[in-house]
Amino acid sequence: MRLILYLGKGGVGKTTTAAATAVRAAQLKHRTLVVSTDVAHSLADALDQEVGPMPTQVGDNLWAQEINVLDEVRQHWGELQGFVSTMLRRKGVNEVAAEELAVIPGMEEVVSLLHIRKQAKEGNFDAVVVDAAPTGETVRLLTMPETFTWYASRVMQWETSTMKVARPLVRALVPASDVFDALPRFVEQVDALRQTLSNPDVSSYRLVVNPERMVIKEAQRAATYLSLYGYPIDGVVLNRVLPSEASGSAFLEQMQQVQAQYREQVHEIFTPLPIWEAPFYAREIKGIKDLGEVGAALFEDRNPLDVFFRGKTMDINKVGENYELRLPLPHVEVNKVNMTKRGDQLFIEIGNFRREMILPTLLADRPATKASFRNGELVVQFGAPEPPKVTQEQPA
Ligand SMILES: Nc1ncnc2c1ncn2[C@@H]1O[C@H](COP(=O)(O)OP(=O)(O)O)[C@@H](O)[C@H]1O
Ligand SMILES: [Mg+2]
Repeated sequence: MRLILYLGKGGVGKTTTAAATAVRAAQLKHRTLVVSTDVAHSLADALDQEVGPMPTQVGDNLWAQEINVLDEVRQHWGELQGFVSTMLRRKGVNEVAAEELAVIPGMEEVVSLLHIRKQAKEGNFDAVVVDAAPTGETVRLLTMPETFTWYASRVMQWETSTMKVARPLVRALVPASDVFDALPRFVEQVDALRQTLSNPDVSSYRLVVNPERMVIKEAQRAATYLSLYGYPIDGVVLNRVLPSEASGSAFLEQMQQVQAQYREQVHEIFTPLPIWEAPFYAREIKGIKDLGEVGAALFEDRNPLDVFFRGKTMDINKVGENYELRLPLPHVEVNKVNMTKRGDQLFIEIGNFRREMILPTLLADRPATKASFRNGELVVQFGAPEPPKVTQEQPA
């Protein structure tokens, strides 16, 4: 089974790309499900067909589904929430606070991911392509299994110590009889989910960008966080590239020039990941036939379900009190490394190679002390965080 997730800023073409990938995979005879987790569903529009909250067949080997996360949470995990809030109340937390606390952070996100995983298994799909919500939300979604497990393990500790005494009482208060087993079972599932999501043979994350500054920035940020959490990225989709024949006006030619510059930047930033390009279509893209065309433009004769890149695009390790950032740069010649850091932005220059990257919060407030290039890998060291500057006002 393959799980492919498309990430990117709103409007870049995630839905189009996800649907195009699914159509292409289905044409190659793979049983494929394309799932939307965005609240603003547009899968039905892209496919030009009705899509329900359960997998709906929309073509040969092709199914589509628009998940409503909140409904899912209410349906399946309402009982668990009731259980947690009851426990908290028994511990003396007042009712309103208990209700509030019982909404375990990330519950909705975790549930929607669990649902996708379950569906993929039960529906016997060869591939599930996820048309995700805009980047920020999706990154939050992907970091949730960890947050959730942390939180849930605290709650489970209460159960073993304090809750033993309260068990009969809680059981009487909570109607569902097996609710005591619900949390550990849930935690187990979330753990398995986290393993699926970080298994490079199963899951691949692909960034969708346009040749535009802000869009590229956001994708860089997403790449940083995905790498940090160990989620494997295997490619970048560069969507809406003006075709070379689109000329004849000063306006279009200027746009092409601007695009050419950002296109080059995309290649610089995201090496060694493969970059797949789709042209800017003058007409509206609607329906399976059009999507097949986009899929063919992106993947040509390749199978979109292949794993196109293996290995980390970035690695951060703690070394003593300090941190070390490693960036594999296989196509770069050994040369002098120049580095400038400004807040969470790091600018690296090795000969003709330039790279600007966005650092995770963890490294943003630490000074970059040393950069070296060995074995096709750039290693940047970060020291202890700088103390905040205190400016003393002189009495006048
Ligand atoms: N390469 C392209 N050329 C022309 N129009 C496109 C292209 N890619 C996407 N679109 C159109 O742009 C709009 C937004 O695309 P969509 O895939 O819904 O973006 P997202 O899911 O990232 O918000 C849609 O109307 C879609 O048909
Ligand atoms: Mg969309």
